[in-house]
Amino acid sequence: MPTPSDPRRDLGRVLVIIPTYNERENLERIVTRVRSAVPDADVLVVDDASPDGTGELADRMAAADPRVHVLHRSGKQGLGAAYIAGFGWGLERDYGVLVEMDADGSHQPEELPALLEALTDADLVIGARWIPGGRVVNWPRHREVLSRGANVYARLMLGTPLHDATGGYRAFRAATLRKIDLEGVDSRGYCFQIDLALRTLQEGLRVKEVPITFVERQHGSSKMSGDIVAEAMWKVTRWGVRARLGRRAGRG
Ligand code: GDD
Ligand code: MN
Repeated sequence: MPTPSDPRRDLGRVLVIIPTYNERENLERIVTRVRSAVPDADVLVVDDASPDGTGELADRMAAADPRVHVLHRSGKQGLGAAYIAGFGWGLERDYGVLVEMDADGSHQPEELPALLEALTDADLVIGARWIPGGRVVNWPRHREVLSRGANVYARLMLGTPLHDATGGYRAFRAATLRKIDLEGVDSRGYCFQIDLALRTLQEGLRVKEVPITFVERQHGSSKMSGDIVAEAMWKVTRWGVRARLGRRAGRG
């Protein structure tokens, strides 16, 4: 609980958005951990009609806890689309902070207070794996290579100062999301993360990376796919080329 002298108080109410697709084995545990790590935060589960019944489980949890809410979507439309819907839900209800968190335990709720603390002098905080103090537990070698590679490519291509632009554990000020043209975001998969980080930087806002320990899931499976990687490669390349052409045109 923030005390009256707590700078976090000025941030406003916190909404933790948890997108789910087939996370029945993980959902109760993650929500319980969020509720005890940050008791004054609300939780919004955004479920894409998971065939395994995650949505019904979320409804039961919401019925038992007024701080837990559920947004049902008609089918699997990608992580980016789920977050945009969740942000819209939270902005309509005047939350001051909107947090992104995976359902599978990879993003530890116990680290959320550190992200919120960092947000007191930033507009977006990214929980980062690839900075000193950050790490990954139990990831297969190919995922580490993919993530590190994607981040090096994004850094070079987009000229951002970020080390973990694909990281999905984040805290946004509501004001940051209001400044970004969310309607214009068409990234469906995980490149949504890069897209939003880039838009935040382009608005001249402050993006801070704080180290996290990312723990690979023990139950269920990743939704990462070849299509998601291809979309990210294609988009980052296009953004990078466009920025270079734009800069050159600007200089005449
Ligand atoms: N509603 C909804 N719709 N949720 C989804 C969808 C979707 O289409 N796709 C994935 N999710 C949910 C999962 O259920 C999980 O809670 C969370 O999004 C992350 O999905 P994972 O499949 O576990 O992702 P990951 O572990 O492979 O990837 C993580 O690392 C990436 C960077 O390396 C995530 O944190 C990504 O956001 C991140 O970009
Ligand atoms: Mn995961």
